[in-house]
Amino acid sequence: MRFPYPVDHEIPVILAPMAGVSESPFRRMCRKHGADVVVTEFLSAEGIRRENEATLSKLRFGPDERTIGVQIFGADPVAMGDAARLVSDVFQPDFIDINFGCPVKKVVKRNGGSGCLRDLDLVQTVIRAVAAATSLPVTVKIRSGWNEEMRDPVAIALRCQDAGARALTLHPRTRTQMYSGNARWDEIAAAVAALEIPVIGNGDIKTAADALRMREHTRCAGVMIARGSFGQPWIFAQARALIDGTPVPTTPSVTERFAIALEHAAMVQSYEADPEGAAIEFRKHLGWYVKGLPNSADLRRRLHVVNGFGEVEGIFADYLRWIEERSVESDLLEAVDTADLEPAEA
Ligand SMILES: Cc1cc2nc3c(=O)[nH]c(=O)nc-3n(C[C@H](O)[C@H](O)[C@H](O)COP(=O)(O)O)c2cc1C
Repeated sequence: MRFPYPVDHEIPVILAPMAGVSESPFRRMCRKHGADVVVTEFLSAEGIRRENEATLSKLRFGPDERTIGVQIFGADPVAMGDAARLVSDVFQPDFIDINFGCPVKKVVKRNGGSGCLRDLDLVQTVIRAVAAATSLPVTVKIRSGWNEEMRDPVAIALRCQDAGARALTLHPRTRTQMYSGNARWDEIAAAVAALEIPVIGNGDIKTAADALRMREHTRCAGVMIARGSFGQPWIFAQARALIDGTPVPTTPSVTERFAIALEHAAMVQSYEADPEGAAIEFRKHLGWYVKGLPNSADLRRRLHVVNGFGEVEGIFADYLRWIEERSVESDLLEAVDTADLEPAEA
């Protein structure tokens, strides 16, 4: 049950691949705050193979992001093999992950992402083609099936293992469910029991306590967090401590939270070539960082119209002044307890 890539801890906590979110600066923030492993957002095999500039730019990562996997998607085994070869030769991540989970229409209509789950022979052919094209470990991320009728996560997982997947992440919802209902953690437990390769559990971890609950419920080899990391990258360090049974780091105060948001903003600013566009893209993170703060409606409204990173510090300073004037810091600290934080909607 050993992981095929280096992990700092026996039960790694992992940042999920997320389009538009798991970009280099956020991955670095999460690594810094305790994520053992990070994965890029899904990248089209066709885009990589054709050396599409926008796609290739998303493949850049720094040494402080390791252990890192690059996630690719596509239903053409040849294109997937070519993409894996290029990624391995040029970018040298620690592993290649294949996306069999994406539910988005544009992707599944060409059989990419969870679209492949309708044809398990194709799933196996894709895994074999990718594994043959790279010497890096190949892992997969799946949903429980295409729809309720075809829901059979253990059978799908076994087919992935047989085809050469070296680790598997299960998000136990079907494609038709998209994000509705609850992730069925029992299905993760069943996959853990049936497979020889490490099974990573994913789905509905909103707090560090949820990460421990999932681990205890399923005995999964690692836990993967997506939406629960929004605006709270420290969830990884807290989950780590709970899993290890060591003292849990306190949730950052409002001042510390703003400092983390500004550090993240500075990373984005130095990473992106177009600072104005990057600031607009960053608005969503700003909204997540202040979610749950008392009287944050006005704060959010101001953050959601920023056009440059320079504006953010002033907005935070105004809010902190407001706190100081009312001496409400101690109330705020209670209010931002992690347990109160629901992840933002995707
Ligand atoms: C904004 C967003 C983008 C996502 N993009 C990807 C992706 O590129 N690849 C992938 O495998 N899953 C993607 N997912 C799915 C997540 O990795 C994860 O499986 C799902 O959100 C369930 O985990 P959670 O309950 O911790 O959010 C995305 C999810 C969200 C919310």
